[in-house]
Amino acid sequence: MVLRVPAGRMVGRDGELRRLLALLDDTDGGQAVAALVSGDAGVGKSRLVSEVTRLAGERGFTVLSGQCAELGDSVPYLPLADALRGAAQSTGVQDAMSSRPALGRLLPEGGYGQLDNEVRSGLARQQMFGEVLGLLAELAAATPVLLVLEDLHWADASTRDLVTFLSRMLHRERVALIGTYRTDDLHRRHPLRPVVAELLRLPGVIAVDLAPLAPSALAEHLTAALTGQAGESVRIDATALNGIVTRAEGNAYYAEELLAAWVNGDQAERQSLPAGLAALLLNRVERLSDEAQRVLRAAAVAGRRADDELVQAASGLAPAQYEAAVREAVTHQLLVPDGAEGYVFRHALLREAVYGDLLPGERTRLHATMSSLLSDEQRLAVPGTAAELAQHCLASHDIPGAFAASVRAGDEAEQLGAPAEAHRHYDQALALWERVADPEETAGMARGKLGLMSASNAADSGDVERAVHLLRRLRQLITVQAERGDEPVDAILASRIGERLAFYLMTMDDYKAEAEAVEVALATVEATPADPPTWQYARAVATYANTLLIDDDFDSVREWAARGLDAARAADAPWVQADALVTLGFVSNRSGRNDEAIELLTQAHKQARAAKVLGVELRAAYHLARAHLERGDLTSGGLIAFEGTKRASQTGLGLAPYGTDVQHLHFQCHYADGKWDHAQEIADGFPVRVTSVPEAQLSSMALFIDVARGNPVVAERRAWIEPFLGARGLDGFMARGLFAEHAAWQGDAELALAQAQAAIDVTFEPPWGFHPSSIRPAVIALSVRADHAVQARASGDEESARAEVEAARELLRVAREGAAFPKRPKFILGPEGRGWLARAEAEFRRASGSNDPAEWEAAIAEFGPAYVYEVARTRWRLAEALAEAGRRDEAGEQWHLAARTADDLHARPLRRALDDLARRARIGTAEQHGDGVVLAALTSREREVLRLIAAGRSNREIASVLFIAPKTASVHVSNILGKLGAASRTEAAAIAHREGLTAPEPSGR
Ligand SMILES: Nc1ncnc2c1ncn2[C@@H]1O[C@H](COP(=O)(O)OP(=O)(O)OP(=O)(O)O)[C@@H](O)[C@H]1O
Ligand SMILES: [Mg+2]
Repeated sequence: MVLRVPAGRMVGRDGELRRLLALLDDTDGGQAVAALVSGDAGVGKSRLVSEVTRLAGERGFTVLSGQCAELGDSVPYLPLADALRGAAQSTGVQDAMSSRPALGRLLPEGGYGQLDNEVRSGLARQQMFGEVLGLLAELAAATPVLLVLEDLHWADASTRDLVTFLSRMLHRERVALIGTYRTDDLHRRHPLRPVVAELLRLPGVIAVDLAPLAPSALAEHLTAALTGQAGESVRIDATALNGIVTRAEGNAYYAEELLAAWVNGDQAERQSLPAGLAALLLNRVERLSDEAQRVLRAAAVAGRRADDELVQAASGLAPAQYEAAVREAVTHQLLVPDGAEGYVFRHALLREAVYGDLLPGERTRLHATMSSLLSDEQRLAVPGTAAELAQHCLASHDIPGAFAASVRAGDEAEQLGAPAEAHRHYDQALALWERVADPEETAGMARGKLGLMSASNAADSGDVERAVHLLRRLRQLITVQAERGDEPVDAILASRIGERLAFYLMTMDDYKAEAEAVEVALATVEATPADPPTWQYARAVATYANTLLIDDDFDSVREWAARGLDAARAADAPWVQADALVTLGFVSNRSGRNDEAIELLTQAHKQARAAKVLGVELRAAYHLARAHLERGDLTSGGLIAFEGTKRASQTGLGLAPYGTDVQHLHFQCHYADGKWDHAQEIADGFPVRVTSVPEAQLSSMALFIDVARGNPVVAERRAWIEPFLGARGLDGFMARGLFAEHAAWQGDAELALAQAQAAIDVTFEPPWGFHPSSIRPAVIALSVRADHAVQARASGDEESARAEVEAARELLRVAREGAAFPKRPKFILGPEGRGWLARAEAEFRRASGSNDPAEWEAAIAEFGPAYVYEVARTRWRLAEALAEAGRRDEAGEQWHLAARTADDLHARPLRRALDDLARRARIGTAEQHGDGVVLAALTSREREVLRLIAAGRSNREIASVLFIAPKTASVHVSNILGKLGAASRTEAAAIAHREGLTAPEPSGR
C-alpha cells in the first residue's frame, strides 16, 4: 500500500504558532511586521506556515504565498510571480495589479520570459519594488495582508533585495511578511546569510527557528498518519514506532519516509534506509570534494560522534588535506563540531546513508583500522570505548577482539548503572563464546558466570522474562555437565544460578512461575554445600523461605527464614540477614501483626542500606513502605518509597523488580494524601508510549490521577497499555479498573461495566476466589448498576430495577469475598480496602432503593482523613443521600466539603458530578458560583494571589507576603486575569469580592 500522510493535525508547534499569530494581531492593529521561519529541511516549516496562512485566511487576511525553486539566480522574482499568480483570481488583487504594469509582466500572459534583461537595469528594479510596495499598501488598506515567501535559501538576488526593501519600507501598513529558509542549506558563504543578519536587526522582524519536533509529538504525528489511512488500518508496535521516532531525530519528513518504508517494506527494508531518502541525503554529500567525502566515509564508520584523531587516521589524508576536507564538510553543514575533539553528523540518518553507501571491502577495512586505533589501553580507559571497539571488531570479522571487548563493555555498563546495555554486551559475548579459542581465559570467568551476569542485568533492566529464560538454560547446561561427569560442576556458581532463577520467578506474579520457584529454590538449597558457611548458601535458604510465602505456611516460612538468618550470620553477610528479615517482617504483616512487621522491616531496611546491596534494599523499602501505607501512615510510607525511588533511578534500577514497585508506592502515597500537584509530577514522569511490561505498569499507575482529573492523556495511555493487557506480569486489573472509572465519568455506562468486569475477572484466582483488588472494580460496576436501578425505578420500570439490583447483589458478593480474601484467611484489610468495601455496601443500598447516609458516613470513617480524594468522592454520595432524606443543610455541608477538595485537587470529573448534583438537588447553590465554577480554574496558589489582589496589594507586596519573586507574582496575576476573563486588577478584585473570596484561607489544608 502507499502511505499518504494526510495533512492531519499539526503537532508540537504551539509556541511557534502562537508567536506567528501574535504577529498577525500586530498587523491587524496597524503595524507592518515580518518573521523569518528557519529550520532544517523537512522539519516542518511549510506545515507551520500553512497553518498560519489558513488561520490568516479565516481572519480575513488577503494571503499571497509564493515559493522559490532550486533554480538559483536564473529566474528573478520567481516567488513573487508565484504569489501573484496564486492570488490573481481575487478581484482585489486584479484591480490593484491592473494599474501596475511592471507587476503584470510577472504573470505568464504578461511576457514573463522576456523580463530578464529589463530587470537588470536599476530603473526597472526601482519600478518593480515601488509597484510591489504600492500593491501591498493598496491591498492592506482594504484588509490586512499576509505575504509568504517560502524557501528563501533558493531565492534569486532580486528577491532577496526585495525582501530587504519591503522590510525597511513597510511601517504602518497592515502587512505581515513571512519568509522561510533551510538552516542546513545556509553554508557560511551563502548569499542569504547577510540578508538574514540585516533583517533581524530591524524592529518588527522576528526569527522563529524550528527545533526538531519532540519525540512525543513525532510519535503522535506518525500514529495519526497510520490511523488516517482510509479503510486500511495499519498497526505498528510500540518498539518499531519508537525506533522510527529515534532515528528521525525530530525531523517530520524523515519520520514519514521511514514510516512509509516500514509499512511497505519487508524485515530487511525496515532496517535499512529507504532508497529515496538515502538518495536525497547522499545528494548533499556528492557535492563535496573527494577528500571531504573520504572524511565523511571515515566518520560514518567511526559512529555518530567521530573523534578527530580517529577520523583523520582512518581517512588516510595528510594533516593539511584533512583540515581542509573537514572544514568543507563543516561549512556545508554535514558535520557539526562537537566538543573540543570531535564532530557529529548533522543528522543521524545522514550517517546511515553514507555508511550504507560504502563498498563492502572498504567498510571492513575502515572498521579494522578503527579497531586497531581503539585497542589502545589509554583510549580503552575512556568509558564507552569498549562498546565501540566491540562493534568495530564484529564488523571487521575479528571475533576474539569482539568477544573480549563485549565482556569489557558489559562490565563498564554495569558499573555505570546501565543494566540494559550491560545485558546486551554480555549477551553478545555469550553468543561468541564457542567461536573463541580460549573464552574462559579471555573473559576471566566461566560461561555460567557470564550467563548469570547477563541474566541479572536483563532483570535489572526490567526484562525478567529474559532473565528467567537465560537462567533456565544455564541450569540445563549444568545438569548435562553433571551427568557427563567430564568437567567438575562449580557448586557455588550453580547455587547462584538456581537462587536467582527462583527469585525472579517469584517476581513474575504468576501462579505457575511461583510453583516452579519453590521447586527450584528447594533443589538449590539441597545442592549447595552448607559447610563451610557461605553467603551463597545463606541466600539460597533465604530465598527458599521467600518462595514458601506463596503457600501461606507461615510456620515453615519463619523456620526457613530463621535458618537463613543463622546461615547469613555464620557467613558474615549482613545483607543476606536483611533479606531474611524482610521475609520475616512480611510474614508478620500477613499474619496481621503490622506493628511487629514494621519493626522488623525497618531493621531490615537499615541493615540492607548499610550493606549497600541495592536489590535487598529495594525489596526492604517496598515492603516497609507498603506496611506503612496499609496502616494509613502515608507520610512515613511516602518518605521511604521516595528514597527507594531515588536510589533505584540513580543506579539504573527503575524498571527492575521492586524498582517499579517503590515508584508505585511513592506515587500512591501522594495520590492518597491529596498532594496531587506532586503526585501529578510523579505520574507525568511515568512513560506514556510504553514498550515493556514494567513501563506499562507505571503508566497504569499514572491513570489513577489522570482519570481522577479527567486529563486528556488517558486516551493515549490506554492505547499504549492495551497491547500489554494479558501480558505476563502486568496487573491488568489496575488499568482495566481505571478505564472503567474513566468510562463511568465520561457517562459511558456500558463500557464502564465491561471494563470493570474484565478487571474483576483477572482478579479471580482459582481455586481460592477473589482478591482484595476485586473490591474496587466491583464498586465501580456497582455504582453504575445503582444509577441504572435508580433511573429504572424513577421511570416505573420495576422489572429492570429488579434486574439491576440482582446484578448489584452479585457485585456486592464479589466485593465481600475479595475483602475476605479466601486465599489468605489471615489477611487483614487496611483502611483503603475497608473504605472501598463500605462503599460497596452503601452502593448496594442505593441500588436497592434505600440509600442510607449512615452507610456513606461509615465509608468515610473507614477511609479516614488520609484518603483525601476517596473521602471527597464518598461525600458526594453522602450529600446525595442526605438530600434524598430531606436533610438539606447537612447535604449542603457535605457538598461544600467535597467541592472544595475537588477544586483543590483539580478533580474535574468529580467536580462536574457535584455540579450536576447541585443542580438536581438544589444544594450547594449558594456558593456554587462562589468557590465553585468561576474560581474553579484557579490553582490554590492563584487563589491566594487573588485574595491579595482583592485586598489591594501590589505585585511587590504579594511577592513578599507569599515569599515569591515579584516576577512570579506578576505572572500569577496575568494568569488569573486571563482565567477570570478580567480586564484589570480592579475587575478581578470585584469578582473575588462577589465570589466571597476575601477571608483568609483556613490553615492546615
Ligand atoms: N508539526 C507538524 N505536525 C504534523 N506534521 C508535520 C509537522 N511538521 C511537519 N509535518 C509533516 O512533515 C512533512 C515535512 O514537513 P514540511 O514540508 O513542512 O517541512 P519543511 O521544513 O518545509 O521542509 P523543506 O525544507 O524541505 O521545505 C510534511 O508531510 C508535513 O506535513
Ligand atoms: Mg517547505
